[in-house]
Amino acid sequence: MSDKTQKLVSDSLETDEQMLPEMPFLLEDLWALGSSVKDILRVVENLGLSSDSTVLDLGCGKGAVSVPITSRFKSRITGVDAMSSFLKDANRKAAEYGVAERCRFICQDIMDYVKADHDFDLVIFASVGGIWGSLQNTVAQLRRQIRNGGYMVIDDGYARTSGPLQRKHYEQYRDHQTTLGELTALGDTILTEIDTTQYSRKINRAYLDSISKRGAELILQKPELKDKINSYILLQQQECEFLDHHIVGALWLLQKNENLRT
Ligand SMILES: C[S@@+](CC[C@H](N)C(=O)[O-])C[C@H]1O[C@@H](n2cnc3c(N)ncnc32)[C@H](O)[C@@H]1O
Repeated sequence: MSDKTQKLVSDSLETDEQMLPEMPFLLEDLWALGSSVKDILRVVENLGLSSDSTVLDLGCGKGAVSVPITSRFKSRITGVDAMSSFLKDANRKAAEYGVAERCRFICQDIMDYVKADHDFDLVIFASVGGIWGSLQNTVAQLRRQIRNGGYMVIDDGYARTSGPLQRKHYEQYRDHQTTLGELTALGDTILTEIDTTQYSRKINRAYLDSISKRGAELILQKPELKDKINSYILLQQQECEFLDHHIVGALWLLQKNENLRT
């Protein structure tokens, strides 16, 4: 993995590059790494996906969204992630669900994957964060991956208040109205918005419990990492509090409108 990719991946996992090799162990008990899988399945339910449909999951992690979508709708999925160990789990889960032949997991930097345009029916961008900065830039990239009339699912959130947020990785968050403006700036339509705050809270607490337990085990195995592990867990606790106070979790389903600028 290049330095640039390592930085993006560790940002999305809210850790630093030195802790990255330990993340598969710390996250071993979790399948979904932050996204609201059940809500994603709910918004995708009415799109009429079938065995002919193609889906792209950018930052697919362990396939917690990709595999259930493929299993439920029989579509074909391409998942892209730079963490090879997560993709091993994704492939294992795909086999367990009997959908391995419909899933293709690619170990690549998303930034490189999206250099080419594609014509997927649906692109999913769940809990990957601000790798392109604003949501407007994110939509600009995602819409180039789908056909005209295709769909985008973004699992993220917006700021509760209008003032700029000072916390690292959250500077790009805007209030609700500004966020809706960013999502539709290129002419696309928001079909559904789901408030995922309550569900995200649950997921974040489960995430915290899990990494605390695994963190304690890792400290016994690698005492030299004690400070790093403890500061990562502390950062996650602060993150949960910050999210509770400042961010509304949101899941959007957008439809790409034809003949518009990219
Ligand atoms: C918080 S996890 C979410 C994973 C998955 N969407 C889920 O909800 O279970 C973010 C994922 O994005 C991946 N990621 C972040 N930036 C990336 C990049 N530039 N290229 C490839 N993968 C990236 C990370 O490796 C990680 O698996």
